[in-house]
Amino acid sequence: MNNIDLTGRDFLTLRDFKREEIEYLIELAAIYKDKKKNGEMVNEYMGQNVALIFEKTSTRTRCSFEVAAHDLGMGTTYLDPQGSQIGKKESIADTARVLGSMFEGIEYRGFEQEIVEELAKYSKVPVWNGLTNEYHPTQMIADMLTIKEKFGKLEGLKFVYMGDARYNMGNSLMIACSKLGLDFVACTNKDYFPNEELVNECKKYAEESGATVTLTEDVMEGTKDADIIYTDVWVSMGEPDSVWEERINKLMPYQVNKKAIDNAKDSVIFMHCLPAYHDLKTKVGKEINEKFGLTEMEVTDEVFESEKSVVFDEAENRMHSIKAIMAATLKKSR
Ligand code: CP
Ligand code: NVA
Repeated sequence: MNNIDLTGRDFLTLRDFKREEIEYLIELAAIYKDKKKNGEMVNEYMGQNVALIFEKTSTRTRCSFEVAAHDLGMGTTYLDPQGSQIGKKESIADTARVLGSMFEGIEYRGFEQEIVEELAKYSKVPVWNGLTNEYHPTQMIADMLTIKEKFGKLEGLKFVYMGDARYNMGNSLMIACSKLGLDFVACTNKDYFPNEELVNECKKYAEESGATVTLTEDVMEGTKDADIIYTDVWVSMGEPDSVWEERINKLMPYQVNKKAIDNAKDSVIFMHCLPAYHDLKTKVGKEINEKFGLTEMEVTDEVFESEKSVVFDEAENRMHSIKAIMAATLKKSR
């Protein structure tokens, strides 16, 4: 762990990181978590400032960056989906050079991965991807920390992803699992398998780590003896409402319900990056109920609320892991 130095690095996708570097970030997140629980001060980055650009909405990621930055002694500036010139009146390259001259680090949540890459190219400070259409790398450190806390290890576990596996969460989890030695299974309709190029890349990572990558449409085969069952919303931020009908038709067989959980190991845990549609307590949940008659979507309320569910541990771990990612890539102030 001592010989890993990520100072000055961008954090855009785990494709750019070696296994040991990812393991280092997970370990550092656990250290920051312990320190927080013990009330230890970690404000070694005092006097620095970070910009938080959100072109899509957020609860966990924004709060994690803000709390983590404050704990580290840093100031934050939040740029909301409407409140800046980015993309509308000013290019990403110009924005990057402006923000890079005022802030020690920049977080970006938005649309295509090329945007966050452009931001990183033109700013001389670390850029952290807070979610793009393609990847959600900060979520990976939190998820892997959560799995490690529950099982005491990562290697050799069977990780099953159900639902829309061709978007940010499915892609990122396949990369994280295959690099860290977890057997990754995308259990979904074939139209929602991750793209072939990325699957082949992850199969290579899996060969190195001793893991496997499997795609299956068979729920019973896919979930059999699973250690972890993971899902995400069927329609992601930025996608049009018109895709709901097809998603419901194709992904309902891959809902995480009691049958899937009962087919897994007794010790299985349920994970979800959140937010989740598991009841009718949301505006979108109610709209879908009125239109399609569903009361729950990617996960049943029964599973979501069961003792198998570790979703709120995952949410808490977002803050500790984002703190680790910022701390590892920035220079300490003293
Ligand atoms: N999981 C996650 O990224 O949540 P937010 O959209 O609330 O940030
Ligand atoms: N796939 C979801 C993840 C949210 C954290 C989305 O992009 O909306």
